[in-house]
Amino acid sequence: MHNLKKKVENHYTNNNLLDAIELALKEQGKDLNNLKIEDLNAVDEMHSRGVYATNELIKILDANKNMHILDIGSGMGGPARRLAHQSGCHVTGIDLTASLTNIAQKLSKYTGLDKKVRHIQGDATNMNIFENDSFDGAWSIHAAMNIENKSAYYKEANRVLKPNSKFIIYDIFLNNKEANIKYPMPWAKTSATSFLINKSEVEKYLKNSGFKIIDIVNKTKETIDNFKKIQANKKKTLLLAEIKMGNDAKTKIANLQNNLTNGNLAVNLIVAKKM
Ligand SMILES: C[S@@+](CC[C@H](N)C(=O)[O-])C[C@H]1O[C@@H](n2cnc3c(N)ncnc32)[C@H](O)[C@@H]1O
Repeated sequence: MHNLKKKVENHYTNNNLLDAIELALKEQGKDLNNLKIEDLNAVDEMHSRGVYATNELIKILDANKNMHILDIGSGMGGPARRLAHQSGCHVTGIDLTASLTNIAQKLSKYTGLDKKVRHIQGDATNMNIFENDSFDGAWSIHAAMNIENKSAYYKEANRVLKPNSKFIIYDIFLNNKEANIKYPMPWAKTSATSFLINKSEVEKYLKNSGFKIIDIVNKTKETIDNFKKIQANKKKTLLLAEIKMGNDAKTKIANLQNNLTNGNLAVNLIVAKKM
């Protein structure tokens, strides 16, 4: 188990990533000490449909300035910053990968959001740094597919939330047999660090952990359409994808796109509430 988490962390660790982001921003004439969150739109959202999806989630979460929201598997912190910026709430992001957590802290400082958003390195399946009933809401965006111990993941999310608060999951789900999926994918080089499950299994985990499901929306079509749209802007898009995902970014994106198009995978947005 420990070894598996190390492998997941290694997948997301790129010690040149911050330098590459800073260089790309400087080349666009941006002042690093005075960045707007929009300046990071193309780099700090590590999930399908990026900013479009995050904006949808922000609306659904409907947080306000008195709330403290948890982002589970928060990556470089793009969704957490956008949420804090738009809703005025405080956000804590927790992520397994130390280097992404460091980048998240830097980018929050650059955008002046470090007073509202904090980033902690930690494991979603054991968040004992947080007390029971700590947060007014939570989301988890494209992270569960790297997490083997689903039961602990959902139970921990439930434990740290206050009763009646929302938990939003925006993730990639299995529609078909794992054996049909072609890797590498953006989140895993091989199936060894990919733990995809189907919608009914997720529903079961949520219910067994003390959540009530409010809504499930299939976002697969929007995701496929978005891939087509960004491909119209090919050169720029590929460069940014390579900064984030490495030089096999093109293959990873093509594999995801094909698996969504042929129905092996789906993108779902689930809104649940802690009972
Ligand atoms: C595809 S990225 C998504 C990042 C972020 N949610 C976003 O959308 O920009 C998946 C993230 O999940 C994190 N992750 C994987 N397993 C985790 C675990 N057990 N606990 C916390 N974070 C984890 C990875 O480190 C990575 O940053």
